[in-house]
Amino acid sequence: MSNKTFYVTTPIYYPNDKLHIGHTYTTTAADTITKFKKLQGYECELITGSDEHGQKIQKSAAKHDMSPKEYVDGIVASFKELWDKLKVDYTEFVRTTSDEHRADVEYIFKKVYDKGDIYKSKYEGYYCTPCETYWTERQLDEEGNCPDCNRAVEWMEEESYFFKMSKYQDRLLEFLDENPDFIQPAKRRNEMINFIKDGLEDLCVSRTTFDWGIPVPIDEGHVIYVWFDALTSYLTGIDWNRDEEKFNKFWPADIHIVGKDILRFHTIIWPTILMAADLPLPKKVFGHGFLLVDGGKMSKSKGNVIDPVKLIDDFGVDAVRYYLLREIAFGTDGSYSTDNFIQRINSDLANDLGNLLNRTVAMVDKYFEGVVPEARDETEFDADLAKVATNTFKSLEENLESLQFSVALEDLWNLIRRTNKYIDQTTPWVLAKDENRRDELGTVLYNLLDTLRRVAITLVAFLPEAPAQMWEQLGIEESLAEQSWEDAKAQGKLKAGTKVKNGDPIFPRIDAEEYYKKLEEEKKAQDKNNKKKGEKEMSEQEYISFDEFGKLELRVAEVLEAEQIEGSNKLLKVQVQLGEEKRQLVAGIAKHYEAEELVGKKVVMVANLKPATIFGVKSNGMILAASNDEGELTVTTVDRDIDSGAQVK
Ligand code: MSP
Repeated sequence: MSNKTFYVTTPIYYPNDKLHIGHTYTTTAADTITKFKKLQGYECELITGSDEHGQKIQKSAAKHDMSPKEYVDGIVASFKELWDKLKVDYTEFVRTTSDEHRADVEYIFKKVYDKGDIYKSKYEGYYCTPCETYWTERQLDEEGNCPDCNRAVEWMEEESYFFKMSKYQDRLLEFLDENPDFIQPAKRRNEMINFIKDGLEDLCVSRTTFDWGIPVPIDEGHVIYVWFDALTSYLTGIDWNRDEEKFNKFWPADIHIVGKDILRFHTIIWPTILMAADLPLPKKVFGHGFLLVDGGKMSKSKGNVIDPVKLIDDFGVDAVRYYLLREIAFGTDGSYSTDNFIQRINSDLANDLGNLLNRTVAMVDKYFEGVVPEARDETEFDADLAKVATNTFKSLEENLESLQFSVALEDLWNLIRRTNKYIDQTTPWVLAKDENRRDELGTVLYNLLDTLRRVAITLVAFLPEAPAQMWEQLGIEESLAEQSWEDAKAQGKLKAGTKVKNGDPIFPRIDAEEYYKKLEEEKKAQDKNNKKKGEKEMSEQEYISFDEFGKLELRVAEVLEAEQIEGSNKLLKVQVQLGEEKRQLVAGIAKHYEAEELVGKKVVMVANLKPATIFGVKSNGMILAASNDEGELTVTTVDRDIDSGAQVK
């Protein structure tokens, strides 16, 4: 086995829902760089997994009447199915609920605690009781409410353990200074550095408000909170504390690939935890951009979440991987659209690559009875083709080193297009007519086949299926699995005398119109199905009882006064008349209404909401407002005049 090693990780994803195309994007990138490193002869580890603890999972499970473990088991199985379908060569799938992981998390927590870098104190913040979640002031929504459920929050304090992250601020800055390539892409580096320079606070690492997590080893009433648990999976994946040799061989990781949303956790929290645990820091963290859909965010409510399983079923795994890697520059946001997808696949895969293979093999069949000819002669175009090929492999290698997948593929396609042009320049069909130019013809076909051989080997890093199909058609006897990056870079390694196998086009053209028709039919069938299912489900669980509705005291209130709350650009302090009673409440509508504009309006409010203090102002009730996707708000008023205090039922 080689002594060159390479360790790559993906984030460990939350199993509260099925994975979508965004998660698929990260994993495809991680798998591609792993496959490339293998081609270069490295011994690789690729770790992925699932982040299974925490409040959200516990609640989702309860909603489904399941234990958290039962609930995540089902979803984790769907993760694995997706990665198998995507042909991801992960070496370990870390579940944070596994015994190994638990032991590792306990160990690292204890180690940092014994060092004196974890201490007990009070956690305080805005707490949303229904969601059982703390928020900082900055996280609250426009109205100063819980950003998840938009209900009122209250100030709370709770005993918690804290990690002394602040202690490592200077060391971290020093490290980043000495390792300028640690944070990728470079444009995000300054953002992180500024964040650190603003001052690192100690990090709350335990909770008592829920129990679905790994208990704090020294205090069982607490569970370890989120990042201490999740990030340690990168150590669990290579058997930290179980296989020292393996661990030392692969740690520090060569690269953590994550989305930009969690870059901060990986470049600030993770390094400081590792410093406290006396472990070396990873070599690089790459925070890629986000995949949007038709230019906007993917969300369940918009119904535009792209399911990778469906995409693979419809177009094949190669098409999906190629599109993700080619279309979006790694590091910036990109937008998925089906139109674009079809166009890209048709032009690059079906047209450029598929045709090149097809034309070439067909000509070898026709002019040489399928036997690979020798390159006995030269044509005036050979030197340029060879030069383009040499440059391509050099540039592609550099681009993959810096994870520029789209540019690397562009490099390769430049060569593929150049090779198609070589056919047009050398016109084999003209050469074939002249017996004296048979050697020239042989050379042209040899060069075409040899380039295809090199392209096929390179594509092993990107596409799991096409290279083997190409190999088969090229009729090469040696196994594709034994080919290396050196073989791809070397010109002329194809053996003459073997027999090609003419086959079907490896990338049939996609007919966009037909595809959209098929989608529409599927949607109709699905809607019909959903309607049936929906009716059934509504009757079973989604209705609320009349009693439940009765608990809500909705009443008409007349706005008497309103004023902006000092220090907040979202909140208004509002005085209302509620029948005989006067009430004060806080409403997060300052961005949508001038204070004076509200005065005199008769609005609908929830009168029996538990009072809360928001921004130091007592709030007793909540004005109802309608909100659209863009978050624009309009308060609910009554259609005809009615006395304030009137019940809404
Ligand atoms: N569990 C944490 C990660 C812990 S890692 C120690 C988590 N999980 S997650 O399920 O929310 O996954 C987040 C990651 O999924 C992002 O960082 C990114 O890699 C990927 N993506 C999720 N949505 C995405 C897009 N729309 N586009 C691209 N990648 C996205 O955070």
